[in-house]
Amino acid sequence: MTSQLAGGPLVQLTGVNKWFGELHVLQDIDLSIDRGEVVVVIGPSGSGKSTLCRTINRLESIQQGEIRIDGEKLPEEGKALARLRSDVGMVFQSFNLFAHKTILENVTLAPTRVRRQGKGQAEARARELLERVGVAHQADKYPAQLSGGQQQRVAIARALAMDPKVILFDEPTSALDPEMINEVLDVMTSLAREGMTMVVVTHEMGFARRAANRVVFMDGGRIVEAADPETFFTAPRSDRARDFLSKILNH
Ligand SMILES: Nc1ncnc2c1ncn2[C@@H]1O[C@H](COP(=O)(O)OP(=O)(O)O)[C@@H](O)[C@H]1O
Ligand SMILES: [Mg+2]
Repeated sequence: MTSQLAGGPLVQLTGVNKWFGELHVLQDIDLSIDRGEVVVVIGPSGSGKSTLCRTINRLESIQQGEIRIDGEKLPEEGKALARLRSDVGMVFQSFNLFAHKTILENVTLAPTRVRRQGKGQAEARARELLERVGVAHQADKYPAQLSGGQQQRVAIARALAMDPKVILFDEPTSALDPEMINEVLDVMTSLAREGMTMVVVTHEMGFARRAANRVVFMDGGRIVEAADPETFFTAPRSDRARDFLSKILNH
């Protein structure tokens, strides 16, 4: 569980700007996320949501501004970057499990290689986490033998195995068949309730209402508005948010 002791925001983006060539993909982003806070990021396709997530663990660099994780500025490269990056878990739409490794090996790989945990310790912890996400009995299988919902829950266990300070979820249920969406959202909801700091890009508005402390709406590379879910869904301030909500809620 995340420590509640240290002060200050856990993730802080200040004046962040990023370009892909001519495309100004992130524009003047200021975003501060507290320990234990769950922030849902929504917005139209191409608005910069994935890029925002990817800059937070520096899968993408930024050209202007500053990103701090737990008070520490994101380093450019090297060991310090690897260490800070391992504080930031990431769960992708496409699961990204290693196909030729078992479920158990997928979860123990980073703790043994990056954190230098012993095999026995890493396996015990992995089994505990697989139990927690409800796939303990699949530990010796390969990813292709599991359903999408099970694979995504393994991906969450894999992220948790590094004891991250924050986990970023980029459309974690978008690639799933409808009947598997809830089993993944349920795991995420319990993580949220247990105090995990989470940034979740999703179009699952039920999850946002249930689990988010704050909804951030992006459009055209900017944060257009941010509010608690109740306020955002019942009284969005901007035309763009109203328009977006009417599209996704009535589809
Ligand atoms: N590696 C890249 N190179 C160039 N353009 C990119 C790259 N990744 C994303 N983009 C562009 O940046 C914009 C934002 O993309 P993205 O962050 O994926 O948006 P979202 O996740 O909100 O759909 C889009 O116009 C996309 O085409
Ligand atoms: Mg995206």
